[in-house]
Amino acid sequence: MYEANCQTCHGGDTGGNLRDIPPPHNTNGHTWHHADQQLTDSILHGFSDPLSPQQMPAFAGKLEEKDVRDILAYIKTWSTADQQDWQRQATEQWEQLR
Ligand code: HEC
Repeated sequence: MYEANCQTCHGGDTGGNLRDIPPPHNTNGHTWHHADQQLTDSILHGFSDPLSPQQMPAFAGKLEEKDVRDILAYIKTWSTADQQDWQRQATEQWEQLR
């Protein structure tokens, strides 16, 4: 699922660095800084930063929410234990803010 839809832009479990656009989803990126709710929203609806040379396409209509959950679970295996803890807490806090 990830390989077919995301890998060409975002790369795999290694490589890349923090300032890359598109950003890597492994330990070298900042994906683990974002709560699940933010990540899901970015993937389904895409986003466009006017200052960015390339935009994140929207996957709503192509991927189901379950596919997005599977992809997130998959890329989380690329993070360190500390990053996973941080990301889990961010997700819990986000839930409480709603
Ligand atoms: C055509 C290239 C392209 C494809 C395909 C693509 N992305 Fe992106 N994605 C981007 C770009 C470019 C950005 C950063 C945009 C910016 O910074 O303005 C981005 C940003 C993101 C972000 C937010 C940044 C981060 O690391 O948290 C997430 C999450 C993300 N993409 C996930 C995915 C997933 C999952 C897929 C596959 C379903 C995917 N992308 C497919 C180009 C792509």
